[in-house]
Amino acid sequence: MTYRKVPIMKPYFDEEEAKAAAEALASGWVAQGPRVAEFEKAVAAHEGCAFGVATTNCTTALHLLMVAMGFGPGQDVIVPSFTFVATGNAVEYTGAAAVLADVDPVTFNINVSLLDDFVAERYAFRDGKWINKKTGNRLSGIVPVNEFGLCADIPAVNDFAKRYGGLKVIEDSACALGAKIGDTHQGGFGNPSAVSFHPRKSISTGEGGMALINDPELAEHVRILRSHAASVSEVQRNAGKGYLLPEYNELGFNYRMTDIQGAIGCAQMKKLDFIAARRAELAHRYDRLLPDAVPWVRTPFVPEGYTHIYQTYCTMVIPEAVKCKTVDEANAFRNEWMDRLEQAGIATRQGTHALHTLGYYVNKYGYRHEDLPGAYACDRLSLAIPLYVEMTEEDQDYVIEQMAEIAADMLKNE
Ligand SMILES: Cc1ncc(COP(=O)(O)O)c(C=O)c1O
Repeated sequence: MTYRKVPIMKPYFDEEEAKAAAEALASGWVAQGPRVAEFEKAVAAHEGCAFGVATTNCTTALHLLMVAMGFGPGQDVIVPSFTFVATGNAVEYTGAAAVLADVDPVTFNINVSLLDDFVAERYAFRDGKWINKKTGNRLSGIVPVNEFGLCADIPAVNDFAKRYGGLKVIEDSACALGAKIGDTHQGGFGNPSAVSFHPRKSISTGEGGMALINDPELAEHVRILRSHAASVSEVQRNAGKGYLLPEYNELGFNYRMTDIQGAIGCAQMKKLDFIAARRAELAHRYDRLLPDAVPWVRTPFVPEGYTHIYQTYCTMVIPEAVKCKTVDEANAFRNEWMDRLEQAGIATRQGTHALHTLGYYVNKYGYRHEDLPGAYACDRLSLAIPLYVEMTEEDQDYVIEQMAEIAADMLKNE
């Protein structure tokens, strides 16, 4: 096949988004207002949650939830190491410590079966609390990540949280809008969650995020914190005595989404089911074609009863299949493969990174690569390949053909 350019992802917009944004501009109300409120309702309804609180991005939605739920200095919060840096950073912004746990390389999600030993090694049970033996921090929360659009085993996470004194659980669903276990959406298992509308996600508002919450008090607190903790919102203020400023009784933030983004979000929501169906169709086509054509990678695993929304189609290089004895050797193979795919016009990415290998976490907590082998393997061997609504079968065939040809050529030279 002849050379073609295949991006890793392309957001799916048409004239509807342009029209919606133009209407917001023409209305003169461009800061957070009625269109954001409509977008919040649409997303919350789609996910079966009572409330949506839109924010500037998912990182700030996570931060608001963590502040509102009381994460802070003197506390430890468990975070899977294999996730985008934002998950751990949001915990660290609050003054709590992100303690990194290992993931299962098969699902890319937190390995709940290791958590009892994880706690036993690091914590002592004193006065009804789990206390970090080294730092004296109290274990307070856990942030499972529904990575790449596949829910973690949230019922098992909730059970673990209950067994350890009622740890607070927040789901990082940046990539997982629409993901389900059985009929229950992410965010429907009794935990608040946060989704992202970055252009790499299923629907986009440029930048953007949303906290999804069922508890009315928590939702109200998050809403207030989003807007400098003002005692009344801009909309309420303009409807009443707008000349008086509200009260500010706690430290808040300006994490508001604009109404231009809200308008785009509403238009995107109308397309979400179509986008999800098309992405799933292409993902399943990869599932069918890759094992024969590209036997050097493992395709994404979906546990029985789970709905994967394939925000990322992430494969794993199989070291033995590419004649490598170690993860590091196979990592060198993956990187050269990605480089040569780039030269062939095909954008690929490592799935995400292992936080315990990143400078900030290494310098602060002294992690070694071997501490969390599952996350390390995912960091070094994950290979995300192109997937977007407007991808044609020819684009997809080109990706598969080039992956096969380039890998075969590299193995011939071994
Ligand atoms: C797992 C995870 N959490 C959080 C984020 C942060 O999302 P945002 O870019 O909207 O802040 C991302 C973004 O890619 C992510 O993948």
